[in-house]
Amino acid sequence: MTKLNRVAPPASNMDVEALKEEAGRAACSYVEHGMNVGLGTGSTVKYTILELGRRVSEEGLEIIGVPTSVATELLAKEVGIPLASLDDLDGLDIVIDGTDEFDPQFQLIKGGGAALLREKIVAQSSARMVVVADQRKQVDTLGAFPLPIEITPFSHLTTVRALEQALDCKVTLRTKGEDTLVTDNGNFIVDAHTGPTINDPAKRETEVLNIAGVVQVGLFINMCDVVVLASDEGVVILEKA
Ligand code: 5RP
Repeated sequence: MTKLNRVAPPASNMDVEALKEEAGRAACSYVEHGMNVGLGTGSTVKYTILELGRRVSEEGLEIIGVPTSVATELLAKEVGIPLASLDDLDGLDIVIDGTDEFDPQFQLIKGGGAALLREKIVAQSSARMVVVADQRKQVDTLGAFPLPIEITPFSHLTTVRALEQALDCKVTLRTKGEDTLVTDNGNFIVDAHTGPTINDPAKRETEVLNIAGVVQVGLFINMCDVVVLASDEGVVILEKA
């Protein structure tokens, strides 16, 4: 029997969009004048970026953003957030990003938007990670959302087979329309259908990274400090103990 580990029932599509907007906008309260800010990728953090852009143009907020994907770079430019490369900065004060799942220890599955590699590099360089999420993302055990893994195009089927053997589950190559999806880094994404069984995410991360064709895995271990969670009851701030 499949274990249902969602803590709240799924909302309708319209409700979900409203929750994403609430969470995305609420997270802006963590951003202060003069900060270097990592800008995540996805449909929730999009609202954070829109609100930060508004504060830059209407309130004179001075920040420097580092985008985690080409899509986020384009959006940030469109709304007037000054951008820099991570290499040109001495670290980031904060990154705000979305997630596909978070567990009670604030371990994350990310990469649903195929940006996990840049997201992880940026998160690793940030003093604080704030995650924006709606209630559907909160789980007891990670893995109902298929685990995204970025792999090299070279011998990718061999890597898929090695992953299937190591994880003992089906691993599928992600596509975009008729074609194989290619990341901003020129790699492929595969999704491991483990089910909600990832009880030891740090161990799982190591197991996946041990396979040579793997570039990075969408497990974010001990990176998230705060979750700004929008639910039917409103926005709650969950802070790591
Ligand atoms: C992209 C990500 C996203 O942050 C994650 O997929 C959540 O996206 P959304 O807010 O659209 O549900 O990890 O690689």
